[in-house]
Amino acid sequence: MTYDRTIIITGGAGFIGSHVTRLFVNKYPNYRIINIDKLTYAGNLANLKDVEDKPNYKFIKADICDYEDIRKIISSNDVSGIIHLAAESHVDRSIVDPFTFARTNVMGTLTLLQSAREYWEPKGYEGCRFYHISTDEVYGALELTKPEGDPSAKECGGGPFGDDFFTETTRYQPHSPYSAAKASSDHFVRAYHDTYGMPTVVTNCSNNYGPYQFPEKLIPLFINNIRHRKPLPVYGKGENVRDWLYVEDHARAIDVIFHQGKDGDTYNIGGFNEWKNIDLIKVLIRTADRVLGRPEGADDDLITFVTDRKGHDMRYAIDSTKLRDELGWEPSLQFEEGIEKTVRWYLDNQEWLDSVTSGDYLKYYEKMYGAN
Ligand code: NAD
Ligand code: TYD
Repeated sequence: MTYDRTIIITGGAGFIGSHVTRLFVNKYPNYRIINIDKLTYAGNLANLKDVEDKPNYKFIKADICDYEDIRKIISSNDVSGIIHLAAESHVDRSIVDPFTFARTNVMGTLTLLQSAREYWEPKGYEGCRFYHISTDEVYGALELTKPEGDPSAKECGGGPFGDDFFTETTRYQPHSPYSAAKASSDHFVRAYHDTYGMPTVVTNCSNNYGPYQFPEKLIPLFINNIRHRKPLPVYGKGENVRDWLYVEDHARAIDVIFHQGKDGDTYNIGGFNEWKNIDLIKVLIRTADRVLGRPEGADDDLITFVTDRKGHDMRYAIDSTKLRDELGWEPSLQFEEGIEKTVRWYLDNQEWLDSVTSGDYLKYYEKMYGAN
C-alpha cells in the first residue's frame, strides 16, 4: 500500500494524543500515522488497543529529545507533517521537578523542530507542516471578578466569573514551571516560522476531560477516589475556575486546524464552559453516585479541603471565536453530557483504571521495549 503522506504524532500514547491518533488513523486510511512516544508514566499503549493493528498505524518508542533518533525517523519515513503533543503535562509534578519539564517540553520541541527543518528545508517545505499543541496556561491567570458566578453573563458576551478572556493576542505570562516550559516551546515554534520559513501552526487549548486521562488530573482522580470512597483533595477553597472541553472536540479541532489553519498562525481552542472547581466536583459526585447506584449525597463527605497548590492560577477562560469564525469549529457536547459519558467510561473501564493506578502497565512496557 502506498500512502499520500506520512505524519508523526508525538505523545500518541498519552491522553489527548491517543484521541488524535485514533481520529487520524480511522479518518485518513490514505495517511501513514507514526506515533512516537517515550512511554513515560503517562503513556499507555492500551489507550490505542483498537487501532494498533490498522495497516496505516505504526508505533515507535523514542524520546523526542534524542536528536539522532528523531532525525532518522523523519528522513527514513519521508515525514511531511508533525502533530506535536508529547510533553510533561502535570502542573503539580512541574512544581516538584521543573528540570524534566524544561528538558521534554523545551528541548524536545526544539529537537523536533531542528530535525524537521533539516529534512524539509532542502525541499522548500513543500506540503510540510509542524503543528504544536499548547495550552491556555501560557497566558497566566485571569481575575475572578464575579466570585459568585453569573450564568446569564454568557448571553451578554461575558464569562460567568469575569468578562475577560484569553485571546490569541493576550500577553504570555506563565506562572508554573509547566506553563513556563510550554510558553518557551511556543516561542521556539514561532521562531522557526519567522526565521526559517517553516510552515507552523500553534494552538492553545483549555482543560480537557474525557476517557484515557491519567488519574493524577482532577476529573479521573476524583472519579477513581469516589469509586473507592477515598478523600477528594480540593486545593484551597475550591474557588479556582477552569474552562473544560471534551477531549474528542479538541481532537476534531486539531484535525481542522492541521488541514486548514494558516501557516504561522495561532488559534485558541476552548469550550466557553467555565466551572468553579468545587461546583464541578459536586456535579462529579452526583453523577458518579447515580451511576454507582448510591443514594444522592452519599459521598459529599469525601470533599476534603487541603493546602492550596503553590502559585495556583485563579481563572482560565478561552475565547475561541477566531477558530469558529475562520474555520467553523465549535464544541459538539454540552458539559453535562460530556461529564456523564466520562464518569460512565471510567466506571465501565475499571480494569484500565486499576492497571494505571497500580503501575502494572509500566512493567509490561519494560518487558517489551526496555526501561526508560
Ligand atoms: P499526557 O501527559 O497524558 O501525555 C503525554 C504523552 O507524552 C505521554 O504518552 C508520554 O509518554 C509522552 N512523552 C512524555 N515525554 C516524552 C518524551 N521525552 N518523548 C516522547 N514522548 C514523551 O498529556 P496530555 O494531557 O495528553 O497533553 C498532551 C499535550 O496537550 C501536551 O503538550 C499538553 O501540554 C497539551 N495540553 C493538554 C491539556 C489538558 O487538559 N490535558 C490542555 C491543553 C493542552
Ligand atoms: P488539573 O487537572 O491538575 O489541571 P490544571 O492544573 O492544568 O488546570 O487541575 C484542575 C483544577 O483542579 C486546578 O485548579 C487544580 C485543582 N485540583 C484540586 O483541587 N485537587 C486535585 O487533587 C487536583 C489534581 C487538582
